Amino acid sequence: MDPKEALDADQVSRRLKPSHFIREIEILKSAPSTNTLLHERAGREPLEPGILLAAEEQTTGKGRMGRVWHSEPYQALTFSFLCINYFPSKPGWITLGAALAAAMAVEDETGLSPGIKWPNDIYLEGKKLGGVLAEALCSGDQDLVVVGMGINVNSCPEKMEAQEGLSPVCLREVHGSALDRSVLLAAILNSMDKILGQMAQGETHFLLNALRKRSLLIGRPAVFECKKARYQGKVLDHTEDLGILIETEIGRVVLPGETATLIRFQP
Ligand code: BTN
Repeated sequence: MDPKEALDADQVSRRLKPSHFIREIEILKSAPSTNTLLHERAGREPLEPGILLAAEEQTTGKGRMGRVWHSEPYQALTFSFLCINYFPSKPGWITLGAALAAAMAVEDETGLSPGIKWPNDIYLEGKKLGGVLAEALCSGDQDLVVVGMGINVNSCPEKMEAQEGLSPVCLREVHGSALDRSVLLAAILNSMDKILGQMAQGETHFLLNALRKRSLLIGRPAVFECKKARYQGKVLDHTEDLGILIETEIGRVVLPGETATLIRFQP
């Protein structure tokens, strides 16, 4: 297939079941950032959950922690959707759910098995394949969240900010042939629909188990920062509330997910 084939909203929609949480798909040729655009729209008019904006090109794509998100036009998936945040006081769950949805969909479509680098990165062969940026949105009495996702599909961005010193990877490079981005987008949304269905029932344990299976950190030496202190040691586990259990020189420490930041790890 032509690796630069445009995204096709109808093809994506046809692959979603009628009760799917996504109700509206808009594909833009270019946008500054699909996350920013959804927030701006929500500032002008009340938005219902289920809107998806994808852009063939982002001119000022945003990553986590103030980073820039680079992608090649017509080669990546860069999209954001608005959905209910079932755990607004624990924003880590929706971020993790979206990262896992992407990893599962990539596995279904290609047979490759991406890993998750806590809290939001999708990795393949030790390199960054994609990431999730979830940003809360206050709209009336609903807890909504803009979930943005970037996946390197058919090429890697030439300039991608070095993160923990690791380079990016794209699916085509590992899979060996170009992928249909519309098919992959639908697969990611279908995984996300299942995950949101379970979250709506109040369940998160399945996400923790899925993270443990795909975790890039468990068993590896890593350095974290938490409330201005540095912690170094072997990661033992991800905890029930998405914290990190680490074996340091002074013993075992649990770092809370909300305040701990990964500085580096040894892949
Ligand atoms: C990260 O790994 O730091 C998160 C990257 C998130 C990038 C996506 S691309 C679509 C959406 N719009 C943005 O500006 N960012 C997210």
